[in-house]
Amino acid sequence: MQTRIKELQERAQRALLGGGPERQRSQKERGKLLARERIDALLDPGTFQEMGLLVKTDCADFGLKDKELAGDGVVTGLGKIQGRRVAVYAQDFTVLGGTLGLAHAHKIARLMDTALESRIPVIGLADSGGARIQEGVMSLGGYAEVFYRNVQASGVVPQISVILGPCAGGAVYSPGLTDFIFMVEGISHMFITGPEVIRQATGEVTDFETLGGAAVHAERSGVCHFNSSSEEDCFRTIRELLSYLPLHCAEMPPTVASHDDPRRAGGRLEEISGLHPRKPFDVKIVIREVLDGGNFLEVAKSYAPNLVVGFGRLNGHSIGVVANNSSQQAGSLDIHASQKGARFVRFCDAFNIPIVTLVDVPGYWPGVSEEHGGIILHGSKLLFSYCESTVPKVTVILRKAYGGAYDVMGSKHIGADINFAWPTAEIAVMGPEGAAQILYSREISQAPDPQAYLNEKILAYREHFASPWVAAQKGYVDEVIEPSRTREKLITAIEFLLPGNPRRQHPSKKHTNVPL
Ligand code: HXC
Repeated sequence: MQTRIKELQERAQRALLGGGPERQRSQKERGKLLARERIDALLDPGTFQEMGLLVKTDCADFGLKDKELAGDGVVTGLGKIQGRRVAVYAQDFTVLGGTLGLAHAHKIARLMDTALESRIPVIGLADSGGARIQEGVMSLGGYAEVFYRNVQASGVVPQISVILGPCAGGAVYSPGLTDFIFMVEGISHMFITGPEVIRQATGEVTDFETLGGAAVHAERSGVCHFNSSSEEDCFRTIRELLSYLPLHCAEMPPTVASHDDPRRAGGRLEEISGLHPRKPFDVKIVIREVLDGGNFLEVAKSYAPNLVVGFGRLNGHSIGVVANNSSQQAGSLDIHASQKGARFVRFCDAFNIPIVTLVDVPGYWPGVSEEHGGIILHGSKLLFSYCESTVPKVTVILRKAYGGAYDVMGSKHIGADINFAWPTAEIAVMGPEGAAQILYSREISQAPDPQAYLNEKILAYREHFASPWVAAQKGYVDEVIEPSRTREKLITAIEFLLPGNPRRQHPSKKHTNVPL
């Protein structure tokens, strides 16, 4: 017995060494934590239960026979975050660059099966050179088994990917299938093909950072949802994100005790509502003013900033916020904003998170490049997602709600439950200036003083349409509210809609056909 225990200790010790002291030093020199250090920094202390420490590859090709690949380059197991269960895996770059062979893939796949059966979120810490070349098609098959599970788990449990090193090839497809991608400045890189292959194939010259660094994926591609300055900061944000989410789709998100008065008046909101209709403002001021403690976890903040999305709480209840931001592109909807908003609405809907929509939108962004880029297709994603969602939805029209964007942004007609408007709301087919030009173009050209005639018509249009009154008369707006009472009104609405109210059902079908 004693010999067996000694053997166990020796085997475990060898496996815990990963790729050995030299490669661990090199990992540290790059400013990166080791795989197990990452797991410790992410989870509640002492909660990690590792699975598959002693797993090894069967492959003996291309020199693998003589290599000791500890745990086959990935650490997998179960643990807790804020006392709630999660499944986690961390690829170990010190073991053959964290590359994925068949045994490595099967460790991740088994963990995902457990997570799906136990209905708990999956967090993948990726630091990998992709498919392990020596294992050929077995690596590709292994990857596909992980991808298949990503899709099976999609919408059932939250899936979070954390990019913590150079992730190439297969190593980026799985994150691409998950709900949220985190990156860290300076150490995270993601690309399907690296700079060298690109140079050979197309002649383009690029580097890791320009091609697939955290900044480029946060600002330009939209692949990265959270961009952190350090690994520690990244893990803090993951913990914060999870605090808003249920463990699975059949559970409600956790409710926390709120110390913020639900009837607290939003002092700055009166001031904002008093701004000239053409003066931009940062909608995040409104968001923070209404949410508990002013706490807002913004998702994809550097991508399509004309539409702000993120999580917060109202009297302790998790909610998702979707808001037009007039300080960027006048808050209009474009291709990127529509895609960003659609994905967020669908996530909230999948995980029972009510949606609060704050509207201040002059319409879809006009332009040849938008039309040729497929705004008809991509813009409809946001509309589709709202129409399809069945979670409670409460909308506040702050200012402009023009054209198709009025319909899209959580209007009553597409299933929002309770719709408010500030007295400053302007709800119409288009703004007064454009409308008067179109309606009276002939009269304007024939008038003795065309500008005076136009101004008169603009004024008449503004008085009739640039207000919430017609919409309120028709019942498209349930209540016109004083801006300072927005928080109180939202909380009353959300708390009315939340507890077990029967939600609307869609006709039975296999699945919808989202305009992808
Ligand atoms: C086997 C690999 C490997 C790979 C890296 N290594 N990538 N071994 N298969 N794909 C090994 C290296 O040989 C080295 O081993 C160790 O990992 C660390 O790699 P380095 O190159 O020394 O590190 P670094 O300079 O930091 O560069 C990291 C890297 C680079 C950017 C990831 O290694 C690289 O470009 N690798 C190839 C990436 C790639 O093209 N992957 C795509 C594969 S195809 P030693 O023993 O020296 O420590 C794919 C398609 C899947 O993934 C499709 C699924 C649908």
